[in-house]
Amino acid sequence: MQAQLRDSLGIDFPMAAFYRSPTIATLADGRHEDMIERALADAAEPFTIEHAAPALADSAEAAPIRTMLLTGASGFLGIYLLHALCGRLDEVVCLQRCASAAAGLAVLQDKAREAGLAIDFSRVEVIPADLAAPQLGFDTPRWRQLAAEVDAILHCGAFVHHLHSYEEMKRANVGGTEALLRLALTQRQKPFCFISTLSVGEMLAGAVRIDEHVSNARPLLDNGYLLTKWVGEQRVAECARRFGLPAVVARPGNITGDSRTGFSNFAHNHFWLFNKGCLQLGAYPETAREVEMMPVDLLAGALTAVALQPRTGIRTVNLNNPLALTQRQWFAALAACGLRADPQAVASWQRRLADLEPSNGLALIRDFYTGDLSVAPLPVDQIGTLTELARHGMDLSVDYGALIQLYVGYLRDAGFLDPVSETVAS
Ligand SMILES: NC(=O)c1ccc[n+]([C@@H]2O[C@H](COP(=O)([O-])OP(=O)(O)OC[C@H]3O[C@@H](n4cnc5c(N)ncnc54)[C@H](OP(=O)(O)O)[C@@H]3O)[C@@H](O)[C@H]2O)c1
Repeated sequence: MQAQLRDSLGIDFPMAAFYRSPTIATLADGRHEDMIERALADAAEPFTIEHAAPALADSAEAAPIRTMLLTGASGFLGIYLLHALCGRLDEVVCLQRCASAAAGLAVLQDKAREAGLAIDFSRVEVIPADLAAPQLGFDTPRWRQLAAEVDAILHCGAFVHHLHSYEEMKRANVGGTEALLRLALTQRQKPFCFISTLSVGEMLAGAVRIDEHVSNARPLLDNGYLLTKWVGEQRVAECARRFGLPAVVARPGNITGDSRTGFSNFAHNHFWLFNKGCLQLGAYPETAREVEMMPVDLLAGALTAVALQPRTGIRTVNLNNPLALTQRQWFAALAACGLRADPQAVASWQRRLADLEPSNGLALIRDFYTGDLSVAPLPVDQIGTLTELARHGMDLSVDYGALIQLYVGYLRDAGFLDPVSETVAS
């Protein structure tokens, strides 16, 4: 529709404006809410709860974690978390959008099959729930029962989309996180792990590096999804501070395919759509951007290790890959697999975005690349994260050479990358 309007009427508008406009009239009007101000206002409202449970340190021994509540198990990362948790716990309670527990379980079984994961489903209980609903959609008896049943919470579920407005995503991403924090503080405290994203640390006023702590610096990026994650981080930090809740803010970077099979969510994945588009153009923009890849299975193992070792207070773990490639190194590695794209000056490359074929990987995400691409990546603090993972015998580094070959092979087999047509340079 965006391309049709441009061609037939000469009207151009960013895709994000379309997503943020509930009607054609609001799109034509061109006025939009100030999402940053809305997020700041929400974060400034104090978190409310009646009868918060006492801090674990003040009560008797913290219960060992036998039952974990997991959200987002049907998602790309979530099914790997379910796999990792089922290998270590008696029970995983999955809160899921589904018509019935049986229907939800069938979805998880399908997702596990697709990913090639052997999950012991006798340890899985599915409970229909909606992150966007008040109290997650539970009545009070069910809420209290759940609060008594689970020992810890791993909150992975989210409305993940980079174009919708803050207001649109707030109910699931902010409201859902607040409801789960209330659950964590009901009856007895339950350690809480919130999956955020590294990009939150990147978009803050005055940021010169991505720290291993939650900052209340002003967010600067007008991106609804990231703003909901920023408010989520603020809420988790507030609950740790006010109630002594043991909490982790875990920030993955670029989540990529399984390091053993290559399995990935390529069809909806921004990273792969960008690279496919560049290969189709035979050119990529020469920028200082870097490529960092964290295989989903490795990430799930690291998240599980961190979530199962709660400590008093809040800790922030930056779970990107410590190794990053320059664009040149990345495209050289793809070229070694027979996939060719050459560097091109940013302005010339951007001009080509105006006439993309609809089949080009960049067609849907074009608007992310029409602005200033000169921003250099920020260094990421990870010393605390890596030290903690080393204590669990875990190392986040990977052999990129082997990984890239595996991914390319998988994506070719899946028909996403065509080795013949995409090696033709323009
Ligand atoms: N992918 C990345 O590169 C990346 C990077 C950094 C951080 N993260 C974070 O990692 C987490 C997982 O990402 P992902 O890529 O695995 O996302 P995903 O595949 O889109 O999965 C999202 C999950 O959240 C669930 N969900 C969404 N809205 C819900 C609602 N209203 N009620 C209940 N469940 C709901 C989805 O359930 P349905 O099956 O019902 O849709 C799905 O299980 C997210 O918190 C994301 O912000 C991702």
